Amino acid sequence: MTDTAEPALNQDFSRYDQVRKAHTYRLAEHVSDAFDDAFEIASLDLAQFLRGDAGDKARFAADFAGALAEIGFAVLTGHGVDPSLYEDMHDTVLDLFTTTPLEEKLRFRAARYGSVAQGYFPIEETSDIHPDLVEGWVWCRRAFAMPQQRSAPFRPEEFWPRADFEPRFRRLALAHEALFQPVMQAMLQGLGCDPHLYDAKLAGTNFGLRANYYPPMSAAQDESGAGRLLGHEDVDLFTLLPATRVEGLQVWNHLSGKWVRLKAPPGAIIINTGDYMQRITNDLLPSTTHRVGKPRDGSHRAESRVSFPIAVYVWENELLEVLPGLGPPRYDPIRAIAFHTRSTSKFYGDDYAVESD
Ligand SMILES: [Fe+2]
Repeated sequence: MTDTAEPALNQDFSRYDQVRKAHTYRLAEHVSDAFDDAFEIASLDLAQFLRGDAGDKARFAADFAGALAEIGFAVLTGHGVDPSLYEDMHDTVLDLFTTTPLEEKLRFRAARYGSVAQGYFPIEETSDIHPDLVEGWVWCRRAFAMPQQRSAPFRPEEFWPRADFEPRFRRLALAHEALFQPVMQAMLQGLGCDPHLYDAKLAGTNFGLRANYYPPMSAAQDESGAGRLLGHEDVDLFTLLPATRVEGLQVWNHLSGKWVRLKAPPGAIIINTGDYMQRITNDLLPSTTHRVGKPRDGSHRAESRVSFPIAVYVWENELLEVLPGLGPPRYDPIRAIAFHTRSTSKFYGDDYAVESD
């Protein structure tokens, strides 16, 4: 696709959406995109909720839910995760993508297991609908030496090209798993719900840890019209994304119809709500569109970009139902696996959708 071709729109794929998405945007960057430099995405101190008194918790919860209701994104400081872990993860992701030969990566090519496409995604193959200039790798809970639902023996060689990667990525999974329940509790409290409604669902829940490696772009790639990562919404409850070194994350502001360049300080966690959350909150917390664009300084021609978000899921058999007290439900209860695979068949093809396994 070039800048003169008719650009693909999100609404071309609206039949896959399992929550209301009324806005229209181009999937890739475009010369006529407008940016919203005035909007500041809220930065909040999670320590208020983790360690504060009842008043601190209530104030944080209200601010957090307010920020998410407005734009679906917030930046969290005070979360307690050691920032040196994120420095190590940056190097680990680079190590994984740059030292593993392509034929070895392709042995781990992504395939659906339960709801989630897990494994390696070659460059330009993150989705069927757009040739994004990113390599990705997704691991769910079963790829880690962590407590499991199933009793089958853990075989790390099924998931990792080298044995030392699993414990390195597991440190990140464990550090972020400790935040799943408190973050959900704060959102629920901020919406006026029982904060503990999802505690059981999130105990030992499934997640998707994704490593993204955006290699430096050639001149031809830079001019091709392909983006680093197309506009999309996350299919999850919420996503935790440690601040990246290289700029690129852009967030759709539905109020202005413009893109907001998200800036977060080193060590902070960017959080956004996804489709599961929009569904169970009856549209109160939106699943907000975001994408990864080129940095303004042109450094993408010479430098790579790394990110490592973790998506929080419920297990496939859980029902996604509108939470009590949030008004007349706009959505029927739906099994998580059907919801997830119908939504993501947008990226992987119609036969990706299943009702159960
Ligand atoms: Fe995303």
